[in-house]
Amino acid sequence: MAENFHRGVLEPNARLFAVLSTVAVTIGGLVEIVPMYSSAAGPEHMDEVTPYTPLELAGRDIYLREGCYNCHSQMIRPMQAETLRYGPWTRAGEYQYDHPFQLGSRRIGPDLQRVGAKYPDAWHYDHMKDPRATSPGSIMPPYPWLYEAKIDKDDVVASVGAMTTLGVPYQDNPETWVAAALDEQGKAIAGRLAETKRDAAPDSEIVALTAYLQRLGVDGRKAIAAGSN
Ligand code: HEC
Repeated sequence: MAENFHRGVLEPNARLFAVLSTVAVTIGGLVEIVPMYSSAAGPEHMDEVTPYTPLELAGRDIYLREGCYNCHSQMIRPMQAETLRYGPWTRAGEYQYDHPFQLGSRRIGPDLQRVGAKYPDAWHYDHMKDPRATSPGSIMPPYPWLYEAKIDKDDVVASVGAMTTLGVPYQDNPETWVAAALDEQGKAIAGRLAETKRDAAPDSEIVALTAYLQRLGVDGRKAIAAGSN
């Protein structure tokens, strides 16, 4: 009966068929689109998740440049095997200031979503220089140039400006405050490294990358602990 109706009535009648299929597609479209614009169901916001500092943003640019996302994901799935290994599963709001987010699609190495504060700075220093020094048998490549190369302050100012245009709430006029922020956080990390007899300039790329890695997932943990989601 239903087949006869389709064959006999709908298919030969192109006009009726076009009208009915437009109605069907419109209903389908509304069901998908309307919830996106209703405030309750929109992309969630987490107050505890704050923008990266300029040094962390510089480290993030290095993470992108080196293609770390080819081997590492930043997304913990809501399954026990994942949460036992990595920590609380990732909420969408944790990426609110990540442009573009670094979900990744391959896990040749472990997920990095909650690697922040997991190890001391010195561990990252040793690991990036020679992964096999900290993790016997690791297939991660070494990144020796990060210890010589310096971050470019103008690049970081430009990155902060670019993030601002994407809606990240940084203070205006990055050229007036970014250099001091870089210096302060860079010196703090270089100081901690020096205490453990590791030598790095405050504006070296390894210090920026360490700042970024130590930040990953930290705000998210706070937000989740506070019951934000
Ligand atoms: C060829 C794949 C590959 C690439 C590229 C790669 N990694 Fe890894 N990474 C691994 C593997 C495998 C491990 C696990 C063994 C180890 O600790 O070295 C790992 C471990 C790590 C860990 C420790 C994670 C934990 O929870 O113990 C960090 C941090 C890390 N990588 C950062 C990076 C960064 C930053 C980059 C880019 C500069 C990078 N990786 C590039 C494969 C890779």
